[in-house]
Parts: sequence; C-alpha cells; structure tokens
Amino acid sequence: MCGIVAYVGPRDAQPILLDALSRLEYRGYDSAGLAILNGKGIEVRKKSGRIQELAKICLAEPVKGRLGISHTRWATHGAATDKNAHPHLDASGRLALVHNGVIENYLELKTKLMETGHIFLSETDTEILAHLVGEAFSSSREKGDARLVEAVRSAVQQIQGTLGIAVIHADMPGLIVGARRGSPLVIGVGEGENFLASDTQALAPYTNRVVILQDKEIVSLRADRFDVASPLGIRENVKVEEIEDGVAASDKGVHQHFMLKEIFEQPSAIQNAFRGRLDADGATAKLGGLNMSPQELRQIDRICVLGCGTALHAGMVGKYLIETLAKIPVETQHSSEFRYGDSPVSGRTLFFAVSQSGETADTLGALREARRRGFTVLGICNNVASTIARESDGGVYMHAGPEIGVAATKSFTSQLVIFTLIGLLLGRLRFLSAAHGRELLQAMENLPAQITQCLAYSDAIREIAQRYAHASSMLFLGRLANFPIALEGALKVKEITYIHAEGYPSAELKHGVIALIDKETPTVLLATQDGVYDKNLGNLQEIKARSGPIIAVAHDDDKKICTLADTVLKVPRTHELLQPILNIVPLQLLAYHIGVALGRDVDKPRNLAKSVTVE
Ligand code: M6R
Repeated sequence: MCGIVAYVGPRDAQPILLDALSRLEYRGYDSAGLAILNGKGIEVRKKSGRIQELAKICLAEPVKGRLGISHTRWATHGAATDKNAHPHLDASGRLALVHNGVIENYLELKTKLMETGHIFLSETDTEILAHLVGEAFSSSREKGDARLVEAVRSAVQQIQGTLGIAVIHADMPGLIVGARRGSPLVIGVGEGENFLASDTQALAPYTNRVVILQDKEIVSLRADRFDVASPLGIRENVKVEEIEDGVAASDKGVHQHFMLKEIFEQPSAIQNAFRGRLDADGATAKLGGLNMSPQELRQIDRICVLGCGTALHAGMVGKYLIETLAKIPVETQHSSEFRYGDSPVSGRTLFFAVSQSGETADTLGALREARRRGFTVLGICNNVASTIARESDGGVYMHAGPEIGVAATKSFTSQLVIFTLIGLLLGRLRFLSAAHGRELLQAMENLPAQITQCLAYSDAIREIAQRYAHASSMLFLGRLANFPIALEGALKVKEITYIHAEGYPSAELKHGVIALIDKETPTVLLATQDGVYDKNLGNLQEIKARSGPIIAVAHDDDKKICTLADTVLKVPRTHELLQPILNIVPLQLLAYHIGVALGRDVDKPRNLAKSVTVE
C-alpha cells in the first residue's frame, strides 16, 4: 500500500524513479509524485491519477538531478488530488518526504504545529511528518549526515502509527535518509549508486543485491555507501542478500493483463508449491521449513489460521483439509479480528499466518500478537523477503513467482496445495494410512495437467461472461470445502467487475438468501460430484423453481447437470480433497472475462491495492 522509490548515484534520477515507480504501481495507484535535488533546491512534480500522468508532466518539464525520492499513493488521509500526492515539503521548502503508512496522532500534532505558525497545504497526515522533521533539522546541533538522521529519528519518536519514509534535504546534497516502523523498506545496492524502495520488485532492472531494513531501523544512503542504525546503535556487518525473480514480474507475456497471465501460470505455480515436497516412500509431505520436530508436530491439538481476503479463504479450505486428513480441530480468524479480540486459545495451538505479500498489516499484527502470547506461528508466504516470512517461527514458501494483478489467483491455488501438504504431513504423523497418503500424492501430481485442461475453456468462458456481464448482482453457493471457493469466486467478481456478489454455503439459501433470486440474478453453484452432490442439486432445483439462472461448476463428464443448469463450467475430476483447487479456476476466468467485457481495469481495480500495509 503506497510505493516508495529513492535513488542516489551518477545517473539522471527522473527516468529511474519513474520506471521503478511503475513497478510498484500495484501497491497503490491514485496519485504519484517525485522530488529531485536540482543543484539549487528541491524540485517537485506530482499528479493525481496513474504514474503515466506523472510521467507526462515530467517529460514536458523534466527535472534534472542525480538524487531523488518518489511515491505512488493509495489514499488514507485526504482525497486523491494533486495537492495530497507525495512528496510533501516542510515549512522551509528545502526538505521533501514520502511516506507509506498511517500517522494515528496526526490531528493532535497538526494542531500543535499550527499553533506555532505552521501552514499546511494538504489534508494528509504525511505533511505533518515533513514539518516535524524540518523543525528538528533546523534546531539540530548535529554535524554531517547525523543532522538529518537525528532529525528523522526525533520526528519519528513523536509519531504513533506506521511508517516507511524517505527524506531528502537541499542542504544535505548526496544524502537520502529512510526509516521504517511497520511498513517495509529495502536498500538496493548498486555499483556507485544506491536505491531505497518499498519492495524488491521496484529494483529488478537495477540490482538484485538488497538489504532488508528491520523494523525501527534508519538508513543513511549515499551513492557509495550506506549506514543502517537500529534503536540500539549502528548495525555492524550488514548482510547484502541476492534475490531472484523480479524482472519477469513486469512482463505480461502474450496476455493482455497480469491477472490472466497469472491465472495461466497456475500449472507451474502449483508444481513449484509441491516440487521437492512429496515423499513417495513415506507417503507423506516433506516440509523442512516448519522448524518443528515430528514429536512437536504430534503434540499440536488445535490449529488457528490467520489471514485476510483470499488468504483467509485459502485457510478456510485448509481447515477442511487438515480436519479431514489429520483430525485436528482448526479455526480460521480474520487477522484484523484476532488481533484486537479476546478470543481464548488453548495451550497447544499452532498458528499459521497466510499472506501472499507477507506485508499485510493486519496479518503481521495478528502474528505478533500470537507470538507475544507465546504461540508458535508458521508463515505461508510468497514473498520470501517479507516481514511476515522473517518474523514467523518457520513456514512454507509458495514459490508462485511475483503476483502483480491485484486479484490474487495463483497465490490462492498455491496456498491450497500447501495446506494439502500440511494436512498430509500431520495426518501421516497420526493415523492416516500410507494408502490414503499415496492416493493424495498421485492425485496432486496430476493437478498441473488438469489445471491446463481448465484453462483450455477460457475462450468458452469469455462468451459465457458476455451473457452475464450486465447482471447487477450474483450469488455463489458451495458446500464444505467448496463454500470458501464460493466466497473466493464472489470476491473475484466484486473486486474485478464491481458487480455485487455474495458467497454462501448452499444450504443457507433457504434461510434468507433465496429472497434475492429472480431471473436477472445468476447463481454460480459449485456442484462437482462429491458426498454433497445430491444436496446441491436440491438447491439447484429451488433456484430453478424461482426462475434464477444457474451457472454450475461441474465435472466434465456429468451429463445430468447439463440438463439442469443454464450454463456449465467444466472441470476435470480429481481426488475429492483436491477438487477445490480445480473448481476455482473457471471462477477466476469468469470474473476476469466479465471485468474485461465491462471495460474494467482488471489489474488495478478501483479503490484497491495489492499489498495492504495499513490497518
Ligand atoms: O498479501 P496477502 O495475501 O496478505 O493479501 C491479503 C488480501 O489483501 C488479498 O488476498 C486480497 O483480498 C486480494 N486482493 C483478493 O484478490
């Protein structure tokens, strides 16, 4: 949520900032800006709208200089206007600052500053921080880089809330100061040049050598060196890590959108999720990163899964998988609710924090709360360099590759594969037979090819999407593990198409939802042949009796359903526990094609951001 990029080095800063910023646009995209030291002072360009709008004004009137900071915004305080876009200046106009996060005590601070004559030009919380740093800088007695570093430290101490910031001052040419508390920041280490960014993706074409800042650290960055200080003093022997991936992220390949590319990457993404983790001899899964012995895993008597949005839906399928395979009771909690609630947790509960980005503020907060209470928390993350991955006691990486489209797709199916592996491992440590374990492993190996079969229906689903694109509301129904798939299908439709959609357990229909059924309201029914197939068909008849159009997700050899539903989205048959992994694919495609038919910006839907780093 909000992206920051800063550059210092021998090259022209503007093109680098604009390019790197465009790689972070998925973090927020309602306005953008940059500030560059031009030899005399600070020159700022900012504009509401996408980064292209900023690029246009920068190209019309370029800013020349070799040091700069930039920002792409997801509005929290103040509308998405030119004035509220970052960077913000201090009272002297010689200091500029960009910020990711939320300043909770900003009103109190603003009132105090106004009483001493400060004038604010925007409605943002960030501008207050720029003024605070500016005040501390002008009254500082420090010399050299320490002057700006200490001014940042003193201002940050007055702030309640979260921040990742980059600051420059016209009196300190060649220096960028960054600080983080809650919001991520990484240093990109180049040859005679250095970068600061919200995540490694921004840096892909420039360097793969990074230093991940720890919480509460401050960095002073020059072209030829950087120093990292924690509240305890300078961090000695800073480790520079080499990262992979990145570059492919910015390439849509043959696809029109990242979302479609990522849907089509699912065969390989899920293969990466289970590669090297299947133990055919033991008929179990190998998950080395859990950092728990078989004895410790056997002692677990409850599991709690924390997540938000799609990640939580994956956890809900995970509940079904683990309870079936290992007979361990599992509860799922919205991270945001767990964090502030009083929910009692029994002594031998194991927590999972699920997050594609690994930076979701609510899930990070919930993880910290569970660890504070003394529980072990395992992360299920895609982003290896993320805060959740680093703060977990252990975990399982998804290895899905970068997910750029705001709608989570391949990360969801990867999470489902990982929950299957966890269920299998825990089951085999208890009573699950080798024969059952082996069946599941074999079925899992067939999944990539079966997802490819689901994807082959994309063109047919595009035509179906045209038929339903003008609905104003849609319902999604499913039972057991397909209930979270109904929720996930509805979430995809809401975020990508802006059509109102709701997911329910199929049987809930008659408890109120049925009042919504009419001939204009399509119902998507997850009706693959499993133990509750007949029950789902009963619900289908209830909808038909009220003239509701039905789109059924069904097995490709199910002839009966073709005579009952208006439209069938076909999926191959797999092990019943793995069926949700296939069933979600046509729903992702349906949402995508409806979104395109309605002319939506599917990769960057309105009001959203990929990585939600505010509460
Ligand atoms: O990065 P995370 O997995 O923690 O993100 C959680 C949610 O914000 C995310 O899944 C969101 O719901 C997606 N946009 C859904 O497509």
